[in-house]
Amino acid sequence: MTQDEMKEEVAKAALAYVVQDSIVGVGTGSTANKFIDALATMKDDIKGTVASSEATAERLRGHGIPVFELNDALTQVSKLSVYIDGADEFDPQKNLTKGGGGALTREKIVAAASEKFICIVDESKQVEHLGAFPLPIEVIPMAETLVMSIANNLGGRAQVREGFTTDNGNIIIDVNGLTIKNARQLEDDLNQVPGVVTNGIFSHQGADVILMATPQGVKTIA
Ligand code: 5RP
Repeated sequence: MTQDEMKEEVAKAALAYVVQDSIVGVGTGSTANKFIDALATMKDDIKGTVASSEATAERLRGHGIPVFELNDALTQVSKLSVYIDGADEFDPQKNLTKGGGGALTREKIVAAASEKFICIVDESKQVEHLGAFPLPIEVIPMAETLVMSIANNLGGRAQVREGFTTDNGNIIIDVNGLTIKNARQLEDDLNQVPGVVTNGIFSHQGADVILMATPQGVKTIA
């Protein structure tokens, strides 16, 4: 089974978590795209969606699936029923690294606005400790040098993602080579740095359930 087929399988498995007549939060990336395509088969069963990026909103609309602004959705419901998205890495505590596609801030916002976060991955994303994947940080452009030097002092190798601007008009700094022993602490520490919008560690907004595709089928890690 190819990685692409595994992504398709896990995306279809996530349909079981979609709550009828509710507003669903939808993530960003190649696995989330497979989920959007699968969600199109049951678009009449939901009220609509909130997208975590412009790219996701466009794909949802392309399927004729209604997309609400988060603020509008939250005038109708106190929380979105579920947030479904991929990840770049996950550890045994269901902490995640996200932001490979640069949508981490909106992803974290939509995850925080949802009752449950169902994370859809293939088995290549499973790690013992986060850190092998470069940690993305969304940064207000004037803070670039400040954040780079703080990230380097933490023992990483910070690099600006060339030619990339987030949907919020900011830059992404990717930090290689971090050994992340305490994901929650590092998430908090980096978010305290002035100019950091957010970083790609999802510990406060970690997954409630991880659906992991393997060649033997989809495993549920709850
Ligand atoms: C985008 C993300 C994605 O969820 C993450 O990069 C995984 O992407 P893919 O499903 O393409 O492997 O965080 O910002």
